[in-house]
Amino acid sequence: MAKFTLREEQALKVEELLKKMTVAEKVGQLHQLSPSIVGGFDVSFEELIEMLTEGRITNEEFGQMMEGAERDFHEEEIREGRIGSFLLDDPEKANELQRIAVEESRLGIPLLIGFDVIHGFQTVFPIPLGEACTWNQELFEASASIAAKEASSHNIRWTFAPMVDIARDARWGRISESPGEDPYLAGVYSRAKVRGFQGKEPGGQEHIAACLKHFAAYGAVESGQDYNTVSMAHSMLHNGYLPPVKAAVEEGAMTVMAAFNDYNGVPCTVNPYLLRKVLKKDYGFEGFVVSDATAIKECVAHGIAADLADASKKAIEAGMDMDMNSHAYHNHLETQVEDKTVSIETLNEAVRRVLSVKMALGLFERPYVSEEEMKRYEELPKEHKEAALETAKRSIVLLKNEQVLPLRKDQKIALVGELADMPMEVLGAWSLGGREKDCVSIYQGLKDAGASVTYQTCCGPESDFCKEALMEAAEDADVIVAVVGETSAMSGEAASRSDLTLPGQQQELLKEALATGKPVVAVLMNGRPLALAWEQEHVPAILECWQLGIEMGHAVADVLFGAYNPSGKLSCTFPAVTGQCPRYYNHPSTGRPAGKSKFTSRYLDAPLAPLYPFGYGLSYTEYRYEGFQLKETETAVLAQVTVRNEGSYGGEETVQLYVRDVTGSLVRPVKELKGFQKVRLSPGEAKKVLLSVEKKDLGFYNDEMEYLLEDGEFIFYVGGNSRDCMEQEISLKF
Ligand code: GLC
Repeated sequence: MAKFTLREEQALKVEELLKKMTVAEKVGQLHQLSPSIVGGFDVSFEELIEMLTEGRITNEEFGQMMEGAERDFHEEEIREGRIGSFLLDDPEKANELQRIAVEESRLGIPLLIGFDVIHGFQTVFPIPLGEACTWNQELFEASASIAAKEASSHNIRWTFAPMVDIARDARWGRISESPGEDPYLAGVYSRAKVRGFQGKEPGGQEHIAACLKHFAAYGAVESGQDYNTVSMAHSMLHNGYLPPVKAAVEEGAMTVMAAFNDYNGVPCTVNPYLLRKVLKKDYGFEGFVVSDATAIKECVAHGIAADLADASKKAIEAGMDMDMNSHAYHNHLETQVEDKTVSIETLNEAVRRVLSVKMALGLFERPYVSEEEMKRYEELPKEHKEAALETAKRSIVLLKNEQVLPLRKDQKIALVGELADMPMEVLGAWSLGGREKDCVSIYQGLKDAGASVTYQTCCGPESDFCKEALMEAAEDADVIVAVVGETSAMSGEAASRSDLTLPGQQQELLKEALATGKPVVAVLMNGRPLALAWEQEHVPAILECWQLGIEMGHAVADVLFGAYNPSGKLSCTFPAVTGQCPRYYNHPSTGRPAGKSKFTSRYLDAPLAPLYPFGYGLSYTEYRYEGFQLKETETAVLAQVTVRNEGSYGGEETVQLYVRDVTGSLVRPVKELKGFQKVRLSPGEAKKVLLSVEKKDLGFYNDEMEYLLEDGEFIFYVGGNSRDCMEQEISLKF
């Protein structure tokens, strides 16, 4: 794939259209709206929500007001050509609004319908943090392709995904939507997602425009607090956070969404360094940038704009092309262009970008969906559900197993934990298209697998522990499977947590389950790394199962009974205690790396090492690495290692290759992932695995965004995770 750009004849059509458009119609293309809620109350819906949040009205009063409320789709403004995009999942309504735009407005420019299709639409896949644990770019692409088919059948032709924020702080709730902490793995993920959403040619009817978000470094919010400030050296931004964005722009991504946070004191929404210099100039991005929801208006709260008019001017001049729901451009930009506060060239450039994406998507030729298309996925196709199951199984990470797993079908299972029987909880954050009828809970999955299982809730993330229920369930059981973790609402947007231990009394449930003397398996359902030091010490088997999407129950059953040998590898570090956050593997050494001496970089009251490192994941079998060697060629370094399956289960291992640049003109991470390869091995089988790292990929950016390749010593590491590796040193000259 190549960077997004228009074919010549399409570019000409855009220029012809631009010439015909009035300033008002041009501003209209930059205005995105969601249906507003009106009626039943005499304030704005936003004000009503504030009144409810501040307790100025009760839930009952709010409910009564909502009974009389309707959704306003702003048809008249569409007819006047003053709206360019709508955030909507309602295919009939989308067709209706599209018909107004295309057949009743003066120039007939179609609307771009966008929606959050983050990890599947009706076929909901694992949360991205979980899917990233598959380390499988074919699966990354396939799930996006299926999501695009289903979303486009609802006339959604633009998704606000992939979210490619590098996330190193598990307190931040949106880590669940991210591909984790590593720029290389996130780059593989972001490229695959763009291919899956947009297809080889973006104009395909079952393809949708991707949207790289959130630009930039949203995952680095201070103290893991959502929407908080972000400060870092430009070199850290370019080496540690932007690689997945750069990769996806090269792959052809058509849109980018700016982040809510400021970057070094300038909100991303109005940040010309990010939008104009890095993205549009250095990366050569020719698609368009959309703000996050109401983010232009929020520049007033940030303290960078005096009022909405000031925010409008600052945003458009910084390179913000489309305004999501602030009404800043809608209310002020036409006047600002007419009184020359904002140049017509600045306006034209933004409009050109928006029209280019609409043209490339084929919206001018095919603005509607047929009745048949709308109904196509009412019942999910078998192959969509199979894809969801395949991805879900491979997202599961075995964290610990002291001869408890896999289970046998003749074992009587006591299944406990509220999350085990809550079908919609398998979906996780940002699963707006998910339907309960398609969701398979863990309880259902065990029953479908023919398990001998009795179920008792006993305890949940927000419900108290009931010892009697546990005793009743465990009485004649052979093994206790305890499903513990977080509700979907405990991660995702506006869901930062200051304490990463299991919420509520779930640890109590585990303690009492262990006290029965029966083997206990902890099945985790969660949207972020948790602080599980106690669990790791006491629970004999621990499976990280995330929120795996509609096929969760079947995937967990397949792994519990060994029908699938778990192969997932962590996309993010698990801290031993919350206080270690942010915790990630690719950190600098410091001048006093942690050691026995007091005067080294460590804690008095906690271990320095994380509980589970990036790339970690066990199997029902054992893999042994031997014979690691390096070979230098003119342009690359080749790493070869033999991996042997020493156990009695066939399985798939992800062989990981890390590199350390020992000395540089900037301090460099102690390890950086530079390649990986998946290998299937039968019991007793050994295979030679060859990995190649291009020498040009061993450089780094400085603060001036210069890419430096510096001669010197490099250490190459190979292994099944970022901690337990074999190593070889090599001197390189570039
Ligand atoms: C939200 C999120 C963004 C999402 C947008 C539209 O606030 O930050 O990721 O795409 O609004 O729903």
